[in-house]
Amino acid sequence: MTKELSPADKAKFVAAKRACDYVQSGMKVGLGTGSTAAWMVRCLGERIREEGLRIVGVPTSTRTAELARQVGVPITSLDDAKWLDVTIDGADEFDPNLALIKGGGAALLQEKIVATASDQMIVITDAAKEVATLGAFPLPVEVIPFGWQTTKALIEELLVGLDVMNREVSLRMNGDRPLITDESNYIVDLHLKRIGNPRQLALVLNQIPGVVENGLFIDICDVVVIGHADGRVVLRDINNGTESEDRIHFAPSDNIFREL
Ligand code: A5P
Repeated sequence: MTKELSPADKAKFVAAKRACDYVQSGMKVGLGTGSTAAWMVRCLGERIREEGLRIVGVPTSTRTAELARQVGVPITSLDDAKWLDVTIDGADEFDPNLALIKGGGAALLQEKIVATASDQMIVITDAAKEVATLGAFPLPVEVIPFGWQTTKALIEELLVGLDVMNREVSLRMNGDRPLITDESNYIVDLHLKRIGNPRQLALVLNQIPGVVENGLFIDICDVVVIGHADGRVVLRDINNGTESEDRIHFAPSDNIFREL
């Protein structure tokens, strides 16, 4: 029931619910990954059941694909869909330009491919993820397992010449083994504390041969939907330069909460 949700979950839920208003019948929708995106997938499942919404989703991870199947959101591959109307996804940090750090859930590669193949990317988040300057959240970088230590050393060398506050790089682990992504790669996390020039960093990281992709999303996000635990939702649109506020009411009888 709603009253059992933590304040953080309430904020994520209202952001997700409001963002689902952008979805209309006939759309092809990119389905992000993470705890906030999971609310969005549940909300879409509810609209499919209750309103007969007709959509097809393209999941950005095996986790999201599994949840979509559970809650009745039809899914297909990006190759089948080819181009999407909208992608809705979470983020780890966003700045005033709606540049993002993503990949805390290790799904950044598929997330970036799917978001880039969409007319519009909507990010759903709570207010805690808003920052003046990106970098407090460690920047995930997906790397090929072959020669990963050389790739890590090249990243460390690259960082010496860049405007960052800290330069520690660590391999992400899953217990005592390296974490393996859906694309069978590794993730290294860059503990930079402050990224002075995200655009430059995103470009130069991808010049290193062992780097597959980095978690900086620049000029990809169009709208950020910021949820608050009291039901308030702030919508910031970078293209129109507008900000508006809305309110989502919790319905304790809502079927969506029975699935938790
Ligand atoms: C997954 O790889 C990430 O990009 C997530 O979208 C991001 O970590 C946000 O996750 P939460 O919604 O769980 O905070």
